[in-house]
Amino acid sequence: MVVIARSLRNEEEVLNHRTVIDTAFGDIPGEPDQTLIDQQKAMVEEAHTIAVVEGIEADADSTSGEIIGGLFGAEFNLTLPGGAQIPAVGLAGVGINPARVGRGGLRVMMEEHLRRSADRGLAASTLWASESGLYGRFGYGSATTMAIHELRSSDAKFALPLHDGGHCDIIFDQAEARRLATAIYAKVGTMTAGTTSRSEAWWDMVFTSKDGWLAPGPCLTLIHWNEAGEPDGYSFYKMVQPHGGDSWIVDGLVSVREFVGLNVEAERALLGFLMRIPLCRRIRLDMSPVDSLLRHHLVDRRQLHQIEAHDGLWLRPLDVTRLLTERSYEVSGEVAIEIDDPLFEDQRGPWLLSVAGATTVERRAVVTPREAADLVLTPGQLGEVILGNTRVNELAAAGLIEGSEEAITQLDRLMLANRKPFAFSKF
Ligand SMILES: CC(C)(COP(=O)(O)OP(=O)(O)OC[C@H]1O[C@@H](n2cnc3c(N)ncnc32)[C@H](O)[C@@H]1OP(=O)(O)O)[C@@H](O)C(=O)NCCC(=O)NCCS
Repeated sequence: MVVIARSLRNEEEVLNHRTVIDTAFGDIPGEPDQTLIDQQKAMVEEAHTIAVVEGIEADADSTSGEIIGGLFGAEFNLTLPGGAQIPAVGLAGVGINPARVGRGGLRVMMEEHLRRSADRGLAASTLWASESGLYGRFGYGSATTMAIHELRSSDAKFALPLHDGGHCDIIFDQAEARRLATAIYAKVGTMTAGTTSRSEAWWDMVFTSKDGWLAPGPCLTLIHWNEAGEPDGYSFYKMVQPHGGDSWIVDGLVSVREFVGLNVEAERALLGFLMRIPLCRRIRLDMSPVDSLLRHHLVDRRQLHQIEAHDGLWLRPLDVTRLLTERSYEVSGEVAIEIDDPLFEDQRGPWLLSVAGATTVERRAVVTPREAADLVLTPGQLGEVILGNTRVNELAAAGLIEGSEEAITQLDRLMLANRKPFAFSKF
């Protein structure tokens, strides 16, 4: 028997593909939810829908064989340090029938996915990993970090009163809530490295779907407007009773599924509003930056309690030159690097990375082929450092990068970003 990766051929295969992936994630197959299927179909690209098929012959054109796994993906723009947005793909639903694991299914579909993505001219493939030990072998590196923060709203206090002149309100009209949140999200995508853009089909899921891998489920939409009347922050939240049932015992939780501010004043105002919600004593921010600026505004920083912190978006470089030339740099410098890429020979280099310019905005990189490199990175290591999530120095101190001390210091300085990257959307 051989295991191959290929596209889906007919409606029956579409359903089997879905059932197998659902089963891999522990869902029990039932009556298909047609609305959800249609929404997801609109969201994902056919070119990124791949099935793993086990059969007697390795014929990618045949419909014979059993679908034992699959994945799907959607294209979007990924923000680099400095605000440039590059075309990337987000991979999701990577699953193999639990009764068919260990036969190389993950490997064949990942390699097929990466080849297709590179052929489509995408600069990177990205994903959120349910298990962090899976994707390094395919050249992905942890490109952003996320935390879950909790705050006892009854105890927490801001160090200084808020005088931003703006105001917050809950928007009940869903079309208006969507219009405002979409505009704020688009703006944050021009400011925050690691942000992935959302298509209209994705926003459809955010606003209409039940709580799931792509959507926060039914939530209230809170908007903040600044003094000039411009919307500059939103939060999707719901109130959760601690022990279920019907009666509130005034110890509820404000579960914040999305929290996006274009500046720290907006974030403070949104948090201040959430802290005053009656019947609740705690706030949980489900998607929060590890270096949240909000902690600096509290009298007691420990009140913003980090209950979990781990990898966020993973990134697999597909177009090294584009990633290096479109991000911004805080300093000038020059270093020759090689990418030890086992899949894409044309991406290896060695490349001379030369960065010059007077200011961050003017400072640009030129990448040219070179005979030899000062240091060698794996694609996953480039994925870890390209947005500024991990220091090159840290990887070198861990004994993972070989190269001269001078070259390591130089690349470390060049890759530093002024803020840590953050991905607001899980997928
Ligand atoms: C994870 C999963 C896709 C692996 O599928 P599989 O067909 O058994 O994988 P393969 O046989 O192709 O293995 C490829 C490599 O991954 C390794 N691997 C498999 N499962 C692993 C795991 N859970 N953790 C770490 N490594 C794993 C294999 O050892 C193999 O390593 P190698 O490259 O050194 O040979 C499958 O177990 C699954 O569907 N799990 C549940 C859903 C899930 O977690 N999906 C990932 C979502 S982000």
